Amino acid sequence: MDHFQYKNGILHAEDVPLPDIAAAVGTPFYCYSTATLTRHFRLFEEALSGMNHLVCFAIKSLSNQAILRTLGDLGAGMDVVSGGEYRRALAAGIPGERIVFSGVGKTRDEMGFALAHGIRQFNVESAEELRVLSGVATTLGAVAPITLRVNPDVDAKTHEKIATGRKEDKFGVPISQAREIYRLAASLPGIEVVGVDVHIGSQLTDLAPFEAAFTKIADLTRLLRADGHSIRRLDLGGGLGIPYTRSNETPPLPMEYGAMIQRVLGDLDVEIEIEPGRLISGNAGILVASVLYLKKGEGRDFLILDGAMNDLIRPAMYGAYHDIVPVVEATAAVEQSPVDIVGPVCESGDTFAKGRDMPPLVPGDLVVFRSAGAYGAVMASEYNTRPLIPEVLVKNDQYAVIRARPSFDEIINRDTLPKWLR
Ligand code: LLP
Repeated sequence: MDHFQYKNGILHAEDVPLPDIAAAVGTPFYCYSTATLTRHFRLFEEALSGMNHLVCFAIKSLSNQAILRTLGDLGAGMDVVSGGEYRRALAAGIPGERIVFSGVGKTRDEMGFALAHGIRQFNVESAEELRVLSGVATTLGAVAPITLRVNPDVDAKTHEKIATGRKEDKFGVPISQAREIYRLAASLPGIEVVGVDVHIGSQLTDLAPFEAAFTKIADLTRLLRADGHSIRRLDLGGGLGIPYTRSNETPPLPMEYGAMIQRVLGDLDVEIEIEPGRLISGNAGILVASVLYLKKGEGRDFLILDGAMNDLIRPAMYGAYHDIVPVVEATAAVEQSPVDIVGPVCESGDTFAKGRDMPPLVPGDLVVFRSAGAYGAVMASEYNTRPLIPEVLVKNDQYAVIRARPSFDEIINRDTLPKWLR
């Protein structure tokens, strides 16, 4: 459920009519709902309420400061995967003890910065990284709390590009080597083992792969404890999927996910951490664009928008489906006809949907891409020198621009000429 609903035939973000924002900000833009973000975060809180837990928002899915502050104020921790994301979390006021640092390729600088400013734990992905982290920590006179991310060799049954828990994927240490690498961890002076981490992929629409992975982690936890390690925390990653279409998708609810976690891991007496991104941010955001042209092609019509693949890459990159709806509600009586919905970028990949039934639209009409809050703005680029589009946050009847559209001068002046061209 989200808070982008039609009221009197006009799509609203909470209590704000979207045409009002479009008139003030210009299109295209991203728009987020505070109520939806809050609701989704709280669903996880409730789902895990029977257990000692921390919900760490995966800020790679949506990393604007206003979003992080909103979630941080609710008590969220943050999962970061780069020094930049770590700094974003700190800047939003998240204390280091609520920040977990994931990722296969952390640099010494990133490790040192996080150790100096406070960290809940590093989710370490290899023996090599462990040694480097231990070295960085001892140089600073610190000890780095770690989990090892274990690759359980479970197929998440999701899109190929976002499955991360099979043995051929680059992530984690093979579960068969885990005990040996924990032994190494225990021997390193700059390392303190605190738990185990697993993340098998994103947009999972079935609990079975999660359960298979968590069962393996439970078994491993018992073995590691028998080996003498203090495993007090399990980080279960993110990955719970969302419905991208209104009708035919029914991914498991956070409550069901939480009940399964309780059932599989509840008797281990551990603190549970999860790292959801998409489920919190996905349906809390939309992309609003304007119709530029309706072009009659041969055998097909093209709806050309001012938003493009550089603003929302998911359809081009993963063949992802997003609902696209007019801001002025189409009544049931209006006849819909199939159009290819495309952007202005100069490649055919800049196609959001093919043969999508849409009501008749004219230039200037507004359309909305639903479920665009996660992996939307954060994956945008300036391809074709199209400025990164603004982000707007709504709360009840108020809205605020939380990232402004840059000017062309700002974009162009980032380039510098070498002296031989001046
Ligand atoms: N934790 C780790 C270690 C991750 O790698 C990810 C996502 C998450 C948590 C959050 O997963 P979520 O709850 O959002 O599924 N750009 C792709 C998704 C990439 C996901 C990468 N890792 C997309 O647009 O579908």
